[in-house]
Amino acid sequence: MFSKFIHFAFLFAFQFFLLIFLFQMATEIAQRVDDLTLSDSGASTSNQKRKNVAGRYDIQLGDITHHNVLQLRRLNQAVFPVTYNDKFYTEVISAGELAKYAYFNDVVVGAVCCRADAYNGKKAMYIMTLGTLAPYRQFGVGDMLLKHVFALCRKDPAYEYIFLHVQVNNETALHFYKRYGFTEQGVVEKYYKRIEPDDAYILVKNLKEKQFL
Ligand SMILES: CC(C)(COP(=O)(O)OP(=O)(O)OC[C@H]1O[C@@H](n2cnc3c(N)ncnc32)[C@H](O)[C@@H]1OP(=O)(O)O)[C@@H](O)C(=O)NCCC(=O)NCCS
Repeated sequence: MFSKFIHFAFLFAFQFFLLIFLFQMATEIAQRVDDLTLSDSGASTSNQKRKNVAGRYDIQLGDITHHNVLQLRRLNQAVFPVTYNDKFYTEVISAGELAKYAYFNDVVVGAVCCRADAYNGKKAMYIMTLGTLAPYRQFGVGDMLLKHVFALCRKDPAYEYIFLHVQVNNETALHFYKRYGFTEQGVVEKYYKRIEPDDAYILVKNLKEKQFL
């Protein structure tokens, strides 16, 4: 009687573990098929945005150093209508966390460059540039770069504002920043040289007003 019980218990345990093994195998195979399938799939970004693209994509941030700063020059030439001088790039190299590349599947497609500044007499983060190469827009790259800036400000409560200048006709950028709680705080006339229109909005986010992203 006891040996029969042992026999059934052994059979039951064997079948139980076999089922678990088969289930795990099926899950893994399904995952690999999903990886190989060219379909509408998600990105492993922090916000898990889903866009209608073939294949998977992954967005990461990386440092800007004197080894790779040439990428930033090329990127800025492609993204912005204004030219940044050598002083800008020298400052960016030593900006540490205030300047970051965005890599889309290991390729540089965007960057943000900030500096600590002042607004309304209070410590503020100034966004000098934040841009994504046109073919990689609306995948969440700008979102990740801007959230990096928010995270920096969160680490130092002395920051009271984030601000930047945006060309008055740059509807995309205005829409982008307003989505994150920036508001227009006036126009600086003739802010830009050699581009039209030459006026810029000052966009400001008050970090002390309400909880920010
Ligand atoms: C503004 C800019 C940085 C946005 O970058 P991006 O990588 O496309 O941004 P994301 O994909 O993260 O978009 C985030 C949100 O911004 C808004 N947005 C981005 N592009 C938009 C567009 N063309 N129209 C309307 N809203 C837009 C959307 O609300 C979007 O969220 P959603 O996709 O969930 O709706 C990009 O268009 C750019 O590089 N423009 C040229 C450079 C520039 O003007 N920079 C601003 C001055 S520093």
